[in-house]
Amino acid sequence: MSRSAHPAGPRHADVLPEGHYSAPPADLNRLDPKVWSRTVGRDERGRLTVGGLSVAELAEEFGTPAYFLDEDDFRTRCRAWADAFGSDADVFYAGKAFLSRAVVRWLKEEGLNLDVCSGGELSTALSAGMPAERIAFHGNNKSEDEIRRAVEAGVGRIVLDSFQEIVRVAHIAQSLGKRQRVQIRVTVGVEAHTHEFIATAHEDQKFGIALAGGQAAEAVRRALRLDGLELIGIHSHIGSQIFDMAGFEVSARRVVQLLAEVRDEHGIELPEIDLGGGLGIAYTSEDDPREPHHIAKALNEIVTRECEAAGLRTPRISVEPGRAIVGPTAFTLYEVGTVKPLEGLRTYVSVDGGMSDNIRTALYDAEYSVALVSRTSDAEPMLSRVVGKHCESGDIVVRDAFLPADIAPGDLIAVPATGAYCRSMASNYNHALRPPVVAVRDGEARVIVRRETEEDLLRLDVG
Ligand code: LLP
Repeated sequence: MSRSAHPAGPRHADVLPEGHYSAPPADLNRLDPKVWSRTVGRDERGRLTVGGLSVAELAEEFGTPAYFLDEDDFRTRCRAWADAFGSDADVFYAGKAFLSRAVVRWLKEEGLNLDVCSGGELSTALSAGMPAERIAFHGNNKSEDEIRRAVEAGVGRIVLDSFQEIVRVAHIAQSLGKRQRVQIRVTVGVEAHTHEFIATAHEDQKFGIALAGGQAAEAVRRALRLDGLELIGIHSHIGSQIFDMAGFEVSARRVVQLLAEVRDEHGIELPEIDLGGGLGIAYTSEDDPREPHHIAKALNEIVTRECEAAGLRTPRISVEPGRAIVGPTAFTLYEVGTVKPLEGLRTYVSVDGGMSDNIRTALYDAEYSVALVSRTSDAEPMLSRVVGKHCESGDIVVRDAFLPADIAPGDLIAVPATGAYCRSMASNYNHALRPPVVAVRDGEARVIVRRETEEDLLRLDVG
């Protein structure tokens, strides 16, 4: 396993052996609905269409590389999460996956709440009209300025991440004459990624306050003592790209145990628990994510059962899916620039973007799918590696992919499931211009985040 592999990558703990790649798919032209957004198909000329528009038209109008976001799919997923959890629970979309003002408006219209983790995300949310009480503010090192802005705006909750922050938020709220609703983020000693989880993970990470050693109980004690704070609950987030609900089960059990301890010590039942985000999506046809109603049912059952066992009223549950909402709704469209066959190895297909628009492959060994989308082809499958145009050999977009052997410069290829953590983690490496995000719906396409220009770069460079 690569030393750079990250928990969010599927190769964690050698789930897939080094050098693994799937056998070629039976039909290279087929667009697996598991990995493509809901309105994607092919037109009579074999070109991929999304929201009724073909990629040839889209590339012509918006250029490449570009992210195309299927607005219908995004809204449908929001509604599926909201419906699955119902009125007794709250769904907070995790803005770190991808945030823009259009997205904030869609969330607002579809009845979702929003988790932000920086001043920048907070101002995006507020400027697009998200009611402050529907915002949760996260982060392990929020600045005093960020805390003040959040309290002044009246955010629905601040998730406290350290002992210092308990005092800091209380002090700022009090100085503003307010009582801030807060949750305490605890680390439950569970670490979950993709297909496995570890129930006794070390607390060796920067987030939250450990349940172990009575730390979290002490945090509750301190928060309850401070006038500037209204402690409404406990928060736990156990990882990312998770398929197995067992990690949530252990986490919920440990959080409920803390609620019982709080009741025994202070005589109060904290009314809320937040189980975080982290639900997995399909990046390749081999991934099998769960539907929101399965997740909601499983989480509700776990919490209800644990609370009954502890003799507690069931608290209001909230969750924070980011990737599971936006991830599957977008693809990145690239134009092929060069095709370099390496005898006996594979063919390198270079595109006009790369690690600046998708760092996940380089950073986490993440796996993606890819398809030729400007036409269909009957050529043989060819083992390929889709690479970018950056000055770095690790600049890989799709490590192992089968593309038709007649792929050629000028063809358009698309990588699905790039809605989450691609634009939001994009960089200007090599002075690349970050691609636009174009929302497509009912035959109309609209730029929601425009492409950067060289003037944008030069404006920051004050000479
Ligand atoms: N809530 C909290 C407190 C989080 O820290 C996160 C993600 C989420 C919710 C949303 O998790 P999601 O449902 O999107 O998995 N850059 C990495 C993922 C980092 C996730 C950080 N926290 C990646 O590209 O895989």
